[in-house]
Amino acid sequence: MKLLVIGSGGREHAICKKLLESPLVETVFCAKGNAGMTVDGIQLVDISEDNHPELIAFAKKNQVDWSFIGPEVPLLNGIVDDFEAAGLKAFGPHKKAALIEGSKDFAKELMTKYQIPTAAHKTFTDYDEALAYVTEKGVPIVIKADGLAAGKGVVVAEDMNDATLALKDMLLDEKFGASSSKVVVEEFLAGEEFSLLAFVKNDKVYPMVISQDHKRAYEGDKGPNTGGMGAYTPVPQIPETMVQEAIEKVLRPAALGMIQEGRSFTGILYAGLIATNAGPKVIEFNARFGDPETQVVLKRLKTDLAEIITALLTDQEPSIEWETEGFEIGVVVAAEGYPAEYATGISLPDFSKFKDVTVYTAGVQKQEEELVSTGGRIYLVGASGASLAEAREKIYHNLQKADTDQTFYRMDIGHQGLHQK
Ligand code: AMP
Ligand code: GLY
Repeated sequence: MKLLVIGSGGREHAICKKLLESPLVETVFCAKGNAGMTVDGIQLVDISEDNHPELIAFAKKNQVDWSFIGPEVPLLNGIVDDFEAAGLKAFGPHKKAALIEGSKDFAKELMTKYQIPTAAHKTFTDYDEALAYVTEKGVPIVIKADGLAAGKGVVVAEDMNDATLALKDMLLDEKFGASSSKVVVEEFLAGEEFSLLAFVKNDKVYPMVISQDHKRAYEGDKGPNTGGMGAYTPVPQIPETMVQEAIEKVLRPAALGMIQEGRSFTGILYAGLIATNAGPKVIEFNARFGDPETQVVLKRLKTDLAEIITALLTDQEPSIEWETEGFEIGVVVAAEGYPAEYATGISLPDFSKFKDVTVYTAGVQKQEEELVSTGGRIYLVGASGASLAEAREKIYHNLQKADTDQTFYRMDIGHQGLHQK
């Protein structure tokens, strides 16, 4: 088979690499991909993810069997609808169904209607009304831009100053443009966070192994929210009963609810959850694989990803099996300053010297035969181990030897799980 993956980050690097492991797959194209992917045999296609007509023309000309859509933006732009209208197979939700990620307000309405456990909330477009509500509820409180904001539109306000500033930024100054002309204000949930993803085909839900992402920029979960600074799986401190409850009370009702709403979902459904004393509660839904969760979760998939997607696209029952032994960790290396202002053009270490780890590149390009950075999250170093400690050691051992002067990474990825068996 010839496959096309849309997207350019570490997540897409991991998806492409996994697809290439399949004996059924001859070629994996990635549009646009990034220069670090070519060492793994992935073929880059220089067409941007929002250029649907050119992507369709490419898929036809190259006899692509099906395409896999990585990021949320093309999904919300209706790329799956456009591919299908052109007679092509594409895996991901239709535009209507991607709204589960595209509007936090819609996701909240869905959860309320189908009794999916989530934080209590209210939606506002008016600054004074929002401020009055926040004042009444008190801090800590969580303020979220309604639309897409690349993981940065969420403020967990510890005091009234932060809360007022966040409301001002979003509602008065439209910091995230139209995405923040509406905000969801929600109850702060205390507990461990975990990500539960599933392959979904309408009413059928095939859960993956859970993982935990580290969203804050700095160690000890301090600093601003980012797209994610590292992840690991499994998450030993989250009991299996919590996971089962999340599958039954969150994922299945969400898939069924979407059908009821005329927005039947096919693709990867991602529930961001907090394990509270009252069970799992949703903090967000995404309509795609997570980044960096994918880089660790797909390493645990024992069956053939290309076969699974082919089965789902042709209404057959997929065979899905997960590794149950050991651990996977991934640590993101980011440009100094990320998620705010940061430099680009930073030279990257020679990855061929790294031992016992897998590198997934994201914000990189080739300059005179050398890889340099173009983005904030530059690459992820992943490793497996019989224990979390062993996997961590492999990663940090390589990173400490590499020249990482203008970059930073968190030293505490996986720390919550370290003392668990
Ligand atoms: P989101 O983009 O919605 O996942 O939010 C980004 C981060 O903010 C999450 O990963 C959590 O760490 C935190 N967060 C979001 N909503 C809540 C909430 N209701 N209670 C506590 N923390 C939250
Ligand atoms: N790692 C969080 C996300 O992909 O949204």
